[in-house]
Amino acid sequence: MKKLFLTSCLIMASTLFVSAQNIKLPEPDKNVSMTLYQALQQRKSVREYSTKDIDDMKLSQLLWAAVGINRPDGHLTAPTAINAQDITVYVCRKDGAYLYVAKDNTLQKVSDKDLRKSVASAQAFAAEAPISLVIVTDNAKFRGGSTNGPTISGAIDAGYVSQNIDLACEALGLCTVPRATMDKEALKKELKLTESQNPILNHPIGYKK
Ligand SMILES: Cc1cc2nc3c(=O)[nH]c(=O)nc-3n(C[C@H](O)[C@H](O)[C@H](O)COP(=O)(O)O)c2cc1C
Repeated sequence: MKKLFLTSCLIMASTLFVSAQNIKLPEPDKNVSMTLYQALQQRKSVREYSTKDIDDMKLSQLLWAAVGINRPDGHLTAPTAINAQDITVYVCRKDGAYLYVAKDNTLQKVSDKDLRKSVASAQAFAAEAPISLVIVTDNAKFRGGSTNGPTISGAIDAGYVSQNIDLACEALGLCTVPRATMDKEALKKELKLTESQNPILNHPIGYKK
């Protein structure tokens, strides 16, 4: 009986601990004045960022544009092959790493570590950005998807999300560069990815220096 009570306490304590690590983002403001054609005109890769932080509203707007839910049936801002919804996006910043959970617009903490250096890998400039988004595809969402590297559909799906991020950055006054360079093994471990999940692209994001 005593053992059962202690176990229940432990489960409750761990639930409280995890929920304390989750961040509810504000509803994304979708009334952004820049037109799509202005964003396309301005889009470019930027590899120098100021240290100014990105506030929760901007982050919410950015993540919704990347891979948010835009229809009542749960479909997303980015298309995915056979609507597999294989893409997840992680936010890496000074205070840790978070999984973006679109359905309740929250950031779920997965690591207390600052993983921006693992994202930057050989390109030190990337670690200077206040946040890096890591785009991950899950092979298990595709029939016959092997565990050996991303599927073609997964790579294409990641490209759509990356382009959404590129254009949203322009519209929100932020700058970024899509990157394939990163320490994938370190990120797989620290983001607690499954065997079938592959980090495929990342975006350091900040304000212009
Ligand atoms: C799939 C992909 C992978 C890329 N990987 C890197 C990278 O690892 N490091 C980097 O600095 N830029 C990377 N880039 C950015 C390209 O170098 C950049 O888009 C290209 O030079 C054209 O410049 P622009 O984006 O300003 O038009 C990548 C772009 C794509 C589409």
